[in-house]
Amino acid sequence: MKKPLHIPPQEIVKAEALPVEKRRANRNHHHQGNGYSAMYKEEKIIRQANRSAHRIPPRPTVEERPIFVPKMPANMPVIKNIDRLWEIVTGQFPSSLTFLHGPEHWRRVEANALKLSCRTGADTVVIRLFALFHDSRRVSELDDQGHGARGAEYAASLRGVEYQVTDKQFELLEYACIWHTEGVHHDDPTVGTCWDADRLDVGRVNIIPDPEFMSTEYGRELASH
Ligand SMILES: [Fe+2]
Ligand SMILES: [Fe+2]
Repeated sequence: MKKPLHIPPQEIVKAEALPVEKRRANRNHHHQGNGYSAMYKEEKIIRQANRSAHRIPPRPTVEERPIFVPKMPANMPVIKNIDRLWEIVTGQFPSSLTFLHGPEHWRRVEANALKLSCRTGADTVVIRLFALFHDSRRVSELDDQGHGARGAEYAASLRGVEYQVTDKQFELLEYACIWHTEGVHHDDPTVGTCWDADRLDVGRVNIIPDPEFMSTEYGRELASH
């Protein structure tokens, strides 16, 4: 059996309230081309015209699409391929020196530096490059005078070829590499982070990191725990 259609009571009242003549007049008003209907048609034409004027052109095929070449300033800091850079630098490093100052130490310095940078605000491009280059030109595991300067020179030889940094960034990198052994403290957050990151890894030679030799607040905090 068909279920009776439920009509809310207020709707019934509304429909019944309109006299039959009025309802008929309303219906004819819409169907006999009166003023309202003409206005409605006019609006419809305008809407259609607007729609076609703003129509999105069809999507070009793959062949037609122009190649997107991002515009970057010539001096934009970019490490094109950090893994390749690591391969190049580790590839030239003598395997006999890897025990204390080799790539494993560089990786720990990088991790320390990135951790420190969360609070020190150091330039992450510079600190990653420092980690890679600062001991990259060692020739001895013992006291190796000038190894920081040689690392900076090596970094300069690959600049613009394997990575790009601004002049200011390179200045910081060069300074941090050259003075990472002799320098004690530095106020610059990037240089300070580089040195703290290196000194936090002295545990590899059984030395406990000393907060006295840290440049940053966070470095001192990590060293004292
Ligand atoms: Fe060093
Ligand atoms: Fe080091």
